[in-house]
Amino acid sequence: MASSNLFTPAFGGLPQVFFGRKGELGFAQAALDNENSPHKAFFITGNRGCGKTTLLEKISQLAVERGWKAIDVHSAHATQAIIEALAGGTAKTIEKSAKPSMLGVSVGGVSSSSTTEYSGASLGRLLVERCTSLSIHKGVIITVDEIQKVPEGDAENLCSSVQLALRKGLPVMLVLAGLPGSKEKVASYPGCTFMQRAFDMRIGCMQVDETIEAFESVFRRMPQYRASGDAIWEMGLFSQGHPYLMQLVGYYAAERASEFAVGGFSEIGVDLVRSVEPIALEAYRENVLAPILSPLSASLAGYLRAMCEVEDAHGRVGSGAVAQWLGKRHAQVSSYRQRLIDRRLIEPDGQGYARFLLPHVKDYYFGDVSKVERKDPNQQWNRRR
Ligand SMILES: Nc1ncnc2c1ncn2[C@@H]1O[C@H](COP(=O)(O)OP(=O)(O)OP(=O)(O)O)[C@@H](O)[C@H]1O
Ligand SMILES: [Mg+2]
Repeated sequence: MASSNLFTPAFGGLPQVFFGRKGELGFAQAALDNENSPHKAFFITGNRGCGKTTLLEKISQLAVERGWKAIDVHSAHATQAIIEALAGGTAKTIEKSAKPSMLGVSVGGVSSSSTTEYSGASLGRLLVERCTSLSIHKGVIITVDEIQKVPEGDAENLCSSVQLALRKGLPVMLVLAGLPGSKEKVASYPGCTFMQRAFDMRIGCMQVDETIEAFESVFRRMPQYRASGDAIWEMGLFSQGHPYLMQLVGYYAAERASEFAVGGFSEIGVDLVRSVEPIALEAYRENVLAPILSPLSASLAGYLRAMCEVEDAHGRVGSGAVAQWLGKRHAQVSSYRQRLIDRRLIEPDGQGYARFLLPHVKDYYFGDVSKVERKDPNQQWNRRR
């Protein structure tokens, strides 16, 4: 029997094997290790499924390994969740440390979080207090996922508390993950203006080398599977470095291969990879492409469709050709182009050209699963960021 499949195509939590992101982890590590780092607060932003939660979780893990206390919260009731974590989590300690500003219920009812609110002043005071009296930890890192959903009041509580602690030179870090535009949104809140200077770590698809190395590293840890170099290259071409698509194609290839295991070994060749690409594409389409592309306005979707029509073999798209395809003047459609750039669905590629930032947009609009889109990596794929 083949060994367990280490590919993890599931949202949330850490995958069994973490791919790449060396630059991003190095950045976080430097911020943790250097007390004078200017990057004690930063954002991680990117489109659906590009790996924000995974990276945030990895950074939190890295911090814990380096002796920091990590407080990881999701968008719901962020202030309260952080206070609970700082105060030690019991109703009694919370009551002593941070009185709810609106006491609709007894503090014993802390678990019924919707009825108890804590103020930013409580959070600021508690954070400073905890960071001043750290005994076993080097500092406190707060990570918040889906920051675009955090209500303005909670975001202000959080940012102003961290700013206060940083102003006092205390060891605190804040990492906020969210969709493109999250930094602009949060930094526009009156209590969060200091976040305008925060670094925006923009993540997307991985580079060619990183992608191939990631597949190789997973297969090294699954010795019962023998993936040929060509098969790995095919997985790279198909996924184009999109981490979720990498997990999907690797997972289904390994599952399919184990059905044909001989003598405890499962061979993975190019044909086998190609045979599972349609299944991987379907899941990617449903969980990544549809949530991103289906809410687009008719004008933006029309622009993307026109881009698919005029894209050249290297993935480049002339803006003039798109306008012509749409039967409009360039100036009439240039705002659509800009909006798609702002949403990080496309990126400029030299004067008057653009390219897609997400793989398989063409398959989404003009899907023919028997002819899965594949691009020349040297022109298209390794320029992604
Ligand atoms: N660096 C990585 N290494 C391995 N797998 C990854 C990596 N980044 C993302 N993935 C995989 O991609 C999938 C989606 O990742 P994740 O949930 O982190 O995306 P996200 O950007 O938070 O998406 P959303 O915007 O929907 O919350 C998961 O299956 C995860 O295992
Ligand atoms: Mg996420």
